[in-house]
Amino acid sequence: MHPWVAILGLLLLLTDGVTSYSQVTGRTGESVRLPCLYTGEITTACWGRGECSWWSCREDIIQTDGYKVTFQKDRRYQLRGYIGERNLTLTIKNADPSDSGLYCCRIEKKGWFNDIIITQELSIRDSSGDM
Ligand SMILES: *[C@@H]1O[C@H](CO)[C@@H](O)[C@H](O)[C@H]1NC(C)=O
Repeated sequence: MHPWVAILGLLLLLTDGVTSYSQVTGRTGESVRLPCLYTGEITTACWGRGECSWWSCREDIIQTDGYKVTFQKDRRYQLRGYIGERNLTLTIKNADPSDSGLYCCRIEKKGWFNDIIITQELSIRDSSGDM
């Protein structure tokens, strides 16, 4: 087999692996939780909006050194689980339809291309007019 065929196959596999995201739904004004748990050595991690790039969170909204929050773009973004227990579940307070979209939790494992990436798709519906 020509090596390019193998490489193309691998690329297709890789892109295929990232097309399905967990869905989280909520309503305007609620707190929503986007789960992110990992195993293994405790390490630095971040949440970003949009899909994760290959190297980093594209537009970071919160960062942790593995034990505590080290950067928070907005007070609405919180890590309320035990960070040191590897629970990086993101809470977004007072959700707004404009919060809808993809969120990427990136756990920075040692070594090249070892990062764990968990992508969640959030959709916030307007609660007014539903009742
Ligand atoms: C992780 O933390 C969230 C709060 O941010 C909590 O609701 C959830 O139950 C925790 N999950 C685990 C597995 O501990």
